[in-house]
Amino acid sequence: MTEECIFSLPYMRFLIDGPTTIHGSISVAGAKNAALPFLAASILLDAPLEVHRVPMIEDVHRMLEIAHRLGIAIDAVAPGVYRLTAAGCTTSELPADLTPKLRAAIIFTGPLLARWGSTVLPQPGGCTIGQRPIDLFLDGFRAFGVTVTEEAAGTRFTGKPRSARYVFPLVSVTGTETLLLLAVRTPGVSVLENAAMEPEVTALAQLLQSCGAHIEGIGTPTLVIRGVEHLSGGVVTCIPDRIETGAFAALVAACGGSLEIRDCDPTQIAVPLKLLEDMGATIATDATAGVIRISAQLPLRAISIRTHEYPGLPTDLQPPFTVALTQASGLALVHETIYEGRLFYVDKLNKMGANITLCDPHRCLVAGPRPLHGARLESPDIRAGIALLIAAACATGRSVIENVYQIDRGFERIEERLRDIGVRIQREEEGAHQPSAPIALPDSRSPQGVVGY
Ligand code: EPZ
Repeated sequence: MTEECIFSLPYMRFLIDGPTTIHGSISVAGAKNAALPFLAASILLDAPLEVHRVPMIEDVHRMLEIAHRLGIAIDAVAPGVYRLTAAGCTTSELPADLTPKLRAAIIFTGPLLARWGSTVLPQPGGCTIGQRPIDLFLDGFRAFGVTVTEEAAGTRFTGKPRSARYVFPLVSVTGTETLLLLAVRTPGVSVLENAAMEPEVTALAQLLQSCGAHIEGIGTPTLVIRGVEHLSGGVVTCIPDRIETGAFAALVAACGGSLEIRDCDPTQIAVPLKLLEDMGATIATDATAGVIRISAQLPLRAISIRTHEYPGLPTDLQPPFTVALTQASGLALVHETIYEGRLFYVDKLNKMGANITLCDPHRCLVAGPRPLHGARLESPDIRAGIALLIAAACATGRSVIENVYQIDRGFERIEERLRDIGVRIQREEEGAHQPSAPIALPDSRSPQGVVGY
């Protein structure tokens, strides 16, 4: 494990001066939610796994730290390229000090069970978007013949898994990934029904197949897996981050302007793009070139939105889209069907001048357009964090967003990349003196209407 893999940032914050008109071109990073299961999959392989286009974000660093503690050898081959060798994997117990920091660490339980026949999951981290229960994982492991016992150290899973048919009572992305990682090395034929079909799940299944796994139904709700004794190593490249792509498009819809989004996969966000077009944005896509061109003349038209499993509007794009709706004309119902706690950030938008009524934990009404003004904000989670950043970019005046670790969990070098498309943003350590002067852009464009917040 080379040291540059492991680092931790001091408490940071962003200063943003708005309003902003977006212009220019931005490249999309590799998908966080593809990279994380790839790293866990390395445990199952008899030879090294090389992962390319790994986003340099905090969640990846946490996942690498956990892999390192499990005894996986990790080489940072090049920027964004890691080689993981699990031959030296020495323990099946997940580190209690690291695991609660990252909900996705639960994915490790599948391959650890397949390889060792036992593992312990310290209490997984909760978070602000909801309870994040693990009952489906426990139910699924029991279906595979695994014994589940609650201990002081966490939840212990023991027993040599046997092939099974498991029907997910509701769609779970990491639940599907975890049981898939268990099933590929479990003798016999297993079936996962009502499996998640997110592109990241498909990418994981394709990686496993390239290493010798027998999986049918990839990309459908029914996965049929015939377990194998051995899986080879391989080389895999993370798919583009569709949530990052959609957040950049929502930024244009909130601020106005035009943007070329490069190195993306437009086919993976067809529904979010359709919604933005229905709002009045102009969108052109080139799937072969991996480019989306979007422009928006404000105000756009308000439309109601509802999150849904893939290929519907991803719940992770609900916060950025809600911010765009605060700048659109009319009344919109936002229906967050996946999580019960993913709308509570809207009070922060109201503090900036938005007019959002929370109807119940799953629904809110957005009345727009409403001019937003700068405010001091705290980033509650990854996707609400980027939404607050978008709100600060379209607000008049200065905003300060604290706890940007939550944004750094999912967005690589975000302030550098946003500055290149016109957002006046800078990062500073908590407690540093706040520059009162307006934040200048790289091309030293004069600030518009920067006032105190
Ligand atoms: C994945 O989380 C993503 N994370 C999430 O992205 C994303 O929001 C979510 O899928 C939905 O698309 C990763 O892929 C690492 P779920 P996951 O299991 O798998 C309930 C981000 O910001 N549920 O699909 O944990 C759950 O409460 C993150 O990148 C149970 O009830 O989500 C939710 O209501 C945030 N019991 C629903 O299922 C369980 O045992 C869908 O959750 C598991 C889940």
